Amino acid sequence: MQDAAALTLTRPFDTGALNWPEGRILFLNARPAGLADPARVLAVQPERGLFLGCQRADHDTHPALREGDAGFAAAFILAARQRAENEAMLADASARVVPGGLILMAGEKTSGVEAIFKAMQKAGVALEKWSKHHAVVFAARAPLPMLTERAEAAEAGMRTPVGGFSVGTIDAGSRLLVEHLPDSMKGDVADLGAGWGYLALEIARRAEPASLALIESHHSALEAAKANLAGCKASTTFHWLDVTCEPLPKTKDWVVMNPPFHDALGRHAPHLGQAFIRAGHGMLKPGGRLVMVANRQLPYEKTLADLFKTVEKRADNGRFKVLLARK
Ligand SMILES: C[S@@+](CC[C@H](N)C(=O)[O-])C[C@H]1O[C@@H](n2cnc3c(N)ncnc32)[C@H](O)[C@@H]1O
Repeated sequence: MQDAAALTLTRPFDTGALNWPEGRILFLNARPAGLADPARVLAVQPERGLFLGCQRADHDTHPALREGDAGFAAAFILAARQRAENEAMLADASARVVPGGLILMAGEKTSGVEAIFKAMQKAGVALEKWSKHHAVVFAARAPLPMLTERAEAAEAGMRTPVGGFSVGTIDAGSRLLVEHLPDSMKGDVADLGAGWGYLALEIARRAEPASLALIESHHSALEAAKANLAGCKASTTFHWLDVTCEPLPKTKDWVVMNPPFHDALGRHAPHLGQAFIRAGHGMLKPGGRLVMVANRQLPYEKTLADLFKTVEKRADNGRFKVLLARK
């Protein structure tokens, strides 16, 4: 499937409306966009699978901005799904691009890019806009006004990141899973798609795991998880990995998960949960157990039954189901 936002990003240059900037370019929420001269581009992409794609496209790619990343001639931004994330990226671009430098933001028309465009207009920013491929791109010049105060949301004293899953709140499915965690969770435990660490933290509080491995593809979420589990007694390790395509730690006694069913671009993707189940199976010792929660309509039972010796439903509240499988 074509990445309409990435294709539209270079529209102002393709039409001759703008000149390609001289000097280094900061590319936020970067994805391969066919940019000429990738050596001049510093790409930032917190989502592991997209990060690996940028590296393959020869960009100097980092999961987050570093302190010294400044003085860019221009910044290109691909809009994210969350408003706060878009505002944060505009603030970063504004702070790190030289005064008068170009800031471009592109996104599909159904993304939040139009809302950001309107908010910038309302704030009195001079803007230009182009459309193509069901996406829009707008241009502004640094520095930009802050659209909102930048803050990390928190629930019950926990740190949750800007961007990522379940920001500022605990997911209802994950709560149900915690209510139905088996009493006997000991040994080496892995949390697949750990987010900002809610499940791992509750396991550390309720059970006595010898070790907890948190595996997560969103870099800022994993950084938040590190902070949230800092006081935890169990030995914890944090792995920034794409569960679907990278080698994972093995010989676990337990795997827990609330798997994603949308991909990094927000598209419905139940095959991701099935890939998580296969990955979890590969990580377990013989006799090890996988416990998971999912929206009740998602098709995971067959994948579990094909791989595991036994599968049981531990809970079903009409919205979510909790499944337990033994290898
Ligand atoms: C439904 S959320 C659950 C988060 C957390 N366990 C909780 O209960 O709050 C799924 C998590 O999987 C992560 N994820 C999505 N695709 C992934 C992948 N390919 N590899 C690793 N993690 C992934 C998402 O970033 C998200 O944090």
